[in-house]
Amino acid sequence: MKSHQKSPEELKETVRQKYSQISEQAKDYNARSCCGAGGESTKVYNIMTDDYSELEGYNADADLGLGCGLPTQFAQIKKGDYVIDLGSGAGNDCFVARHEAGAEGKVLGIDFAEPMIAKARQNADKLGFNNVEFRYGDIEELPASDDVADVVVSNCVLNLVPDKEKVFTEIHRVLKPGGHFSISDIVLEGDLPEALREDAEMYAGCVAGAIQKETYLGYIKEAGFEDITIQKEKPIEIPEDILSQYLAEDEIAEFNSGGTGIYSITVFARKAGEGKSAKKEAVTMLGNANANACEPGSGCC
Ligand SMILES: C[S@@+](CC[C@H](N)C(=O)[O-])C[C@H]1O[C@@H](n2cnc3c(N)ncnc32)[C@H](O)[C@@H]1O
Repeated sequence: MKSHQKSPEELKETVRQKYSQISEQAKDYNARSCCGAGGESTKVYNIMTDDYSELEGYNADADLGLGCGLPTQFAQIKKGDYVIDLGSGAGNDCFVARHEAGAEGKVLGIDFAEPMIAKARQNADKLGFNNVEFRYGDIEELPASDDVADVVVSNCVLNLVPDKEKVFTEIHRVLKPGGHFSISDIVLEGDLPEALREDAEMYAGCVAGAIQKETYLGYIKEAGFEDITIQKEKPIEIPEDILSQYLAEDEIAEFNSGGTGIYSITVFARKAGEGKSAKKEAVTMLGNANANACEPGSGCC
């Protein structure tokens, strides 16, 4: 069934079922495909994922190769912080966040695929953490109180959610005044070919549900956030052996030369107000890795 024929609830059900299945897939397979969906490339090893293994707190059992950035690397988490991870999967970002927040902090992972939650809880038990909780829930209606979190992170999830505006409103609600988020996600510049845009597998594969970058940043602003900053941006290339499942040869050539960009971005923003706010150090953290970065509050994004 094509994704555009599905209602938002049906789309979410497709995503939930797909990620329940993906939770049992090998990391290598997921990394060679688009978020674990849409078939495996035999040519490209890592289509979207970044290497987590060097980050402190990394837990290999939680890394299913499903991310499209390293939001925790940019999230400026401090000891004692309360961190919420949206669409936490097997807990990959939660365990890195736990390292940053320490034993005195708290980490809450939220996901709506039961097998992901089960896997994440198993991983937390193995590590003996009593301050990392995994909660079942839909991130369009976050199961968390108002003004509780210092930091929100998320890795390659909002593109899968039909109502992205609602998610940013929810993030704003759960953050403390002065709290902030770092979110990695897929966005577009230009249009995808219809056959990609309308395919349900490509929707679950973090491609067809992606929206225009400008619209995405606009939703963040409309939700009331300040200091909106792109901390990292990298182009994503879908390998030809995957594209060929959806497009004819001439359509692939047209797509490749058409100027449409698929990007992984890591975006930071802050909720206004007093409190333990993140320092304006996004650019320093990034070093020279990304020429597109700009300092929070500089107004360049
Ligand atoms: C691409 S995976 C990323 C998992 C994890 N962030 C990582 O990097 O390993 C997307 C995750 O988001 C979850 N998800 C998608 N839509 C969701 C929603 N509306 N509410 C809660 N979780 C959702 C899926 O179940 C899946 O575990």
